[in-house]
Amino acid sequence: MTSEQTTDIKHDSVTLSFNGNSYEFPVIEGTEHEKGIDLAKLRSSTGLIGLDPGYGNTGSCTSEITFINGEKGILRYRGYPIEELAENCSFTEICYLIIYGELPDRKTLDEFEYMLTRHTLLHQDMLKFFEGFPHNAHPMTVMSAMIASLGAYYPDATLNEDIHLNIIRLIAKAKTIAAFSYKKSIGQPIVYPQNNLDYVSDFLHMMFAVPTEPYKHNPLMTKALNLILILHADHEQNCSASTVRMVGSAEASLFATISAGVAALSGPLHGGANQKVLEMLDQIKQSGDPVQKWIDKAKDKDSSFRLMGFGHRVYKYFDPRAEILKSMAAELLPELGIDDPILNIAMELEKAALSDDYFKSRNLYPNVDFYSGILYRALGIPTNMMTVMFTLGRIPGWIAQWKEEMGRSDRRIHRPRQIYMGETKRAFIPMKQR
Ligand code: CMC
Repeated sequence: MTSEQTTDIKHDSVTLSFNGNSYEFPVIEGTEHEKGIDLAKLRSSTGLIGLDPGYGNTGSCTSEITFINGEKGILRYRGYPIEELAENCSFTEICYLIIYGELPDRKTLDEFEYMLTRHTLLHQDMLKFFEGFPHNAHPMTVMSAMIASLGAYYPDATLNEDIHLNIIRLIAKAKTIAAFSYKKSIGQPIVYPQNNLDYVSDFLHMMFAVPTEPYKHNPLMTKALNLILILHADHEQNCSASTVRMVGSAEASLFATISAGVAALSGPLHGGANQKVLEMLDQIKQSGDPVQKWIDKAKDKDSSFRLMGFGHRVYKYFDPRAEILKSMAAELLPELGIDDPILNIAMELEKAALSDDYFKSRNLYPNVDFYSGILYRALGIPTNMMTVMFTLGRIPGWIAQWKEEMGRSDRRIHRPRQIYMGETKRAFIPMKQR
């Protein structure tokens, strides 16, 4: 099915009256019966533009990648419920599904994974770039800069016949960049990728192996990380996905475009929330105050404190990703025999909030960042690497959003308008008169 066909399911219209004239605009209905007014001809027919700061009411595209129904707690990639994908798939399988639209058969997946293990190395010259960053550079800054730098080595990464290879390069090299940036930040020698390891095991090996000791793989830890990456793989038109579509629409290269997506994700209002959860838990621990005191503070309208990892703009019932990660945390934490006061505080906080009327009446459930933060901590992933983990998970989603945007027959450069509120024309004042 093409993007154009999705818009053809049912047509209705909306009439707009302005300056004594009536204008009719078609109503678009998606395959899941979401409706929107097609305003593509609004300006040319009426002279008006739509003003919608923050884009809360603006559909920037039709899409076939991800469906979310926040009222019912539904998330599907390419039509498949997230619960079934999380239960049955590997992260690489999900990468293929999201980017190419269908679940791969055995042979296709084997070939895809083979390619992913053959393109993990960075050009040796790129290792010098890591030396140039200060040791305390945030790994997200390094990530964004290094992904943009890939464009210097693979300059023609546009939607052409080589795009599959460049997509492989991006997914494969991003995890090497992520692990190298961590090693750099702690002053340890980098650990090279290994072709015999699957995507997640190879990442853990590059993160935690040291020259004096190989990394001991724990299948449950690999499973947990695989799950987290799957759950982050796409989330339709959020800030970074929209950035990717915007930058891509100017025909910037794949690497430049995804680097812009990483930059958008680095903000604390977007991908940075998982880090904030851990910082909050640490703050609670440092205070020595009972958890209830912090719950009361989160409810107090005179305080700006909020429970990080609770509530969601879209999910008003529950975040299906959080439910899956909660079960994983219940399996992993006892298995690892972890006795971490921070994790104990997290469990206490969750229990207290879920039974509190303030949180219940406002549908404030723990979100994906609450449990992913807890799981990362249990996996030994440091706090400043948490948004980088989100990045690795989200790369297939960004690639799919970019590919979909670039493949549209009606594609145009994204160029929103504005309502100008500044000074009207005024006389120039020469320097000596100011
Ligand atoms: N702690 C305490 N009160 C809260 C919280 C919270 N975490 N979240 C919302 N509320 C209250 C808020 O004060 C308001 O109360 P009232 O109706 O009395 O004024 C009510 O709940 C509705 O809040 P809102 O701010 O209108 O909700 P929103 O949809 O605009 O915000 C949110 C959603 C995620 C920004 C917000 O819940 C929040 O700040 N949560 C903490 C940060 C967080 O965990 N962010 C990660 C979100 S998941 C990211 C992803 O999907 O990728």
